[in-house]
This record gives sequence, C-alpha cells and structure tokens, in this order.
Amino acid sequence: MAKVELDFVKDGPILVKKNEQVEFALCRCGHSTKKPFCSGAHMAAKFTAEASKLEIKE
Ligand code: FES
Repeated sequence: MAKVELDFVKDGPILVKKNEQVEFALCRCGHSTKKPFCSGAHMAAKFTAEASKLEIKE
C-alpha cells in the first residue's frame, strides 16, 4: 500500500509525496508560470503560508 502525503511547505508549494519521494510540487501562491505546478515564483511574490502535512490513507 502506497503512503501518500501532502507536505505544505512554509511559504512555498504543496509537495505531493508517494512513499517519501516527491512526485511533484503544486502551486498554492497563485503566481506560478506553469500552473498547477510550482515554478518558484512564490519567492519573488514573497508568498507566506504556514507549514503543515496531510497523510492520505488508501
Ligand atoms: S507555490 Fe511556488 S510558484 Fe506558487
């Protein structure tokens, strides 16, 4: 059974992890140039958000 986790990075994207490996990073700042994925634009936008994690059970 795969372990899937959403890792909300402080001031950054949502890392979608499967079995501890990062599959992709989703933008949550709204400034990405390659939505829905993070392009790194959150840094220039000075995006701020809290860190948290969510584990998805299959
Ligand atoms: S979170 Fe990285 S570009 Fe939006």
